[in-house]
Amino acid sequence: MIVTIDGPAGAGKSSAARQLARRLGFSFLDTGAMYRAVALAGQRQGVDWGDPRQLSAVAEAMRLELTDDRVVMDGQDVTAAIRTLEITTLTQHAADNEAVRRHLIDRQRKFAEGRNIVTEGRDQATVVFPHAECKIFLTASEDERARRRFHDLLARGEEVDPAEVLRKQRLRDQRDAERKFGGLAKAADSIEIITDGLTPDQVVDRLEEIVRGVQPDGSPPRNCGP
Ligand code: C5P
Repeated sequence: MIVTIDGPAGAGKSSAARQLARRLGFSFLDTGAMYRAVALAGQRQGVDWGDPRQLSAVAEAMRLELTDDRVVMDGQDVTAAIRTLEITTLTQHAADNEAVRRHLIDRQRKFAEGRNIVTEGRDQATVVFPHAECKIFLTASEDERARRRFHDLLARGEEVDPAEVLRKQRLRDQRDAERKFGGLAKAADSIEIITDGLTPDQVVDRLEEIVRGVQPDGSPPRNCGP
């Protein structure tokens, strides 16, 4: 079974999707981490960001292992290194690159072969797994998302200005929405959850309830089954 969780930056997708996968005993795939790893590899190898072919060559050559909570690139643990503000900004080069996207989509589909997964990103329901059994769109208000991102960066020891976090988030939202190939979009058959005012546990409870097909009125949600 494939469960897709798409939505904008800061909606709380990663932690909710990871927890959900644990509860269900499914594998977890963080596709944002894949785009981030490509950007990190590009930065470390000194690619010319103006030449998209250099970055796609880096993506194809890269060895990447994703476990539930670790990202290992070419044998090195880069779990923390891919989350800095600098790499977050550079990641747009990977996300905007069609050849990189095609390549990562192939890797995502291979990862899903023969497994139950919870996969999290922007285009999982619309492009990568249009036939997924359960599609969720997780979002939150702009201010709430920026506030969470700010606290997240602080906790990682980065010096950040809240206004700057909001400004960068707006730019990222806009680029994610306008991207021609694989842009952020809610699939027509996705179930939307707005996470403002919900604790992380409440979000996971809601997701689990949806995936297990148990709604308060007892009716199975459209497109989702246990
Ligand atoms: O989810 P996360 O913030 O880690 O994603 C980093 C960036 O990767 C996003 O801003 C988005 O531009 C890109 N991305 C994407 N498609 C995905 C997942 C992430 O374009 N499936």
